[in-house]
Amino acid sequence: MNPNDILRQMTLEEKAAFCSGRDFWRTKAIDRLGVPSVMMCDGPHGLRKQEGEGDHLGINKSIETVCYPTAAALASSFDRSVMERLGHALGQECQAENVAMLLGPGLNIKRSPLCGRNFEYFSEDPYLAGEMAASYVSALQSEGVAACCKHFACNDQETLRMSGTSNLDERTLREIYLPAFEAAVKKGHTRSLMCAYNAINGTFCAENKTLLTDILRTDWGSDAFVVTDWGAVKSRARGVAAGLDLEMPGGPNATGEDILRAVRGGELSESDLDRAVLRVLTFVSDTLSAKKADASIDRDACRRLARALSGECAVLMKNEGGLLPLRPGQKVAFIGEFAAKPRYQGAGSSHINVPHPVSAIEAAGDAVFYARGYDAHSNDTDPALLAQAMEAARSCDVAVIFAGLPDAFESEGADRDHMRLPDNQNELIAAVSAANPRTAVVLHGGSPVELPWLSLVPSVLCMYLGGEQVGAASVDLLFGAVNPSGHLAETWPLRLQDNPSYLNFPGEDGAVTYAEGIFVGYRYYDKKEMPVAFCFGHGLSYTHFAYTNLRLDKSSLTDRDALTVSVDVTNDGPLPGKAVVQLYVRDVESSVRRPVRELRDFEKTALAPGQTKTVSFTLSKRAFAYWEPRCHDFFVESGEFVIEIGESSRDIRLCATVQVQGTVELTFPVTEYTTIGQLLKHPKGKALVADMIQSSPMSHADQTDAMGEGSERLMESMMMGIPLSALARPFLAEDGIFICSGIGDNLVGYE
Ligand code: BGC
Repeated sequence: MNPNDILRQMTLEEKAAFCSGRDFWRTKAIDRLGVPSVMMCDGPHGLRKQEGEGDHLGINKSIETVCYPTAAALASSFDRSVMERLGHALGQECQAENVAMLLGPGLNIKRSPLCGRNFEYFSEDPYLAGEMAASYVSALQSEGVAACCKHFACNDQETLRMSGTSNLDERTLREIYLPAFEAAVKKGHTRSLMCAYNAINGTFCAENKTLLTDILRTDWGSDAFVVTDWGAVKSRARGVAAGLDLEMPGGPNATGEDILRAVRGGELSESDLDRAVLRVLTFVSDTLSAKKADASIDRDACRRLARALSGECAVLMKNEGGLLPLRPGQKVAFIGEFAAKPRYQGAGSSHINVPHPVSAIEAAGDAVFYARGYDAHSNDTDPALLAQAMEAARSCDVAVIFAGLPDAFESEGADRDHMRLPDNQNELIAAVSAANPRTAVVLHGGSPVELPWLSLVPSVLCMYLGGEQVGAASVDLLFGAVNPSGHLAETWPLRLQDNPSYLNFPGEDGAVTYAEGIFVGYRYYDKKEMPVAFCFGHGLSYTHFAYTNLRLDKSSLTDRDALTVSVDVTNDGPLPGKAVVQLYVRDVESSVRRPVRELRDFEKTALAPGQTKTVSFTLSKRAFAYWEPRCHDFFVESGEFVIEIGESSRDIRLCATVQVQGTVELTFPVTEYTTIGQLLKHPKGKALVADMIQSSPMSHADQTDAMGEGSERLMESMMMGIPLSALARPFLAEDGIFICSGIGDNLVGYE
């Protein structure tokens, strides 16, 4: 099928109708031109293929299949190969099930721990989220199945998700909320994006030309087609004009009448419509050519994969005294309802129909004793369950409590309103750890919770929502068959009030203001030097790693060059394990607010005891840049940068300094209100101002002596704030030279 040929033969009516789906999950067929209907279905951590009645809230049945770890868990692997293995497996399953596009991955940034869909999203860090997404997308699409990166963009909460507006500044949008999508587009070459329900700064994403055309197509050069989130369309004609291609879901009412009217009335150009139709036709045609007729799926192999991946994702948060791994011969009690009925996925459109999720009790078999401990549907402590649990803990060498957020706490369509575990679980952990101090906690949930009992227990293992095999993977990790290697893709704050979005989540009056700007997650906690429960990038192992020999291939470079960074990592502990080498960049001095450090690369590497490997990274402009609204681009300010190698964002093991020269000069409009301080920050402004300060009557040089110690700094800071208007006139009156000729002009041009 040739999309251009087909387009030429289509009537205006056919084109208008083709911009909406046939039903809940399929595109429209055009029988007379041989265009078939193709199917898409939800993911992203499994296949929610509905053969019967469709819905987008996880209500009606879908096929029985395998549920892999959710995105919250996957990102904690800090491992691109985990994403690739998953992408391939899902791609093969889609081929076998005749699914042309999987609706995922979800790339929204974790702005608040309360977002009900955090389990479907990767990280608070845009670089990590982008790398995870790009790897998943490339692998999925290499199987001939399209990815659909969602929800584009700034859909970082569920409250008022279909009608609210996320209000934020340009720098925050470009530095925090878009780069993951940008990576999925530029590195992963995603075939599709799903526009979010919400508006950005008052314009709904489904009709946001800045987002769908200027940024996606013009800036990023993408030919991906854009699908609406289910029911996100407000005006189809405005949407198509803005760069939207396909409205979903379709159905009998999606005739395209409104588009037709708009074209006939001159409000929508036929060429805009053609462009949208062509993109959807190209997707259909690509699907046909990539179709593997003999595709099949081995679901047992998928289950083994789900177990292995869950093991790669778990984060050992705390392990004092080496309580874990459990030793052979120890008497172990598994306590808590989640040991028998694991929480492994969240609710809503990503919900996978799993015939048999594996619990930790089932996986451990006779090796452990079990006490239910709490009722997962209640907040209240049941004294009988608590007594049994304490008795089990006392009678065993080690107690392992399986705790976490109950199902009702995490769902599409609703945010949490606090960050606590149910009271009965907190009480259980406190009581059991008093009965037996050798207590470990295994946590389930898609987002951080407050941990009031943290100091009472020596070990905490976080499984997040680890997919249907989470019970088996927990047992693998607890008993040491698998060495934990996950690291946190988000900060765990001590309490909700510490989170930077606290005062502006979920907003009011239909609008949420991202007032914290770029200071999301660790960018905020580090800037404020705040204590946290667990920092971004944190994760322990049963072994230990040493970092040596950090080297840079140059000591200075321009922002057009690449910098190679290498470091040696040695497993100097007793067991095989996987290190996650994290590279952060710190701008030593900047004229704009910048985070203390930002993750710019990472690598997971497997090491046998005693083994050393060299890990290398290549950094380019973006690693040093911030988004500069004055030139609407990423911009490097010349100066010194520190390359930091860490095992977490707060465990920096090595650092080295490099000088980076920016090659772009900023436009610097000089007005009469430009201050001396602003001028001095610019190399050309510095020269301009030097003389003026000395001879200005505002310099008050005579007063500094009288004021004594510290007076120079005081005078200097007074001078910095003085605008040219206060200087120029007297200065000009004296000798009539250059200063006013700069006012109103651009001091230097922007290339
Ligand atoms: C969700 C999407 C999902 C779609 C289809 C919407 O409610 O926001 O993530 O892909 O439904 O089920």
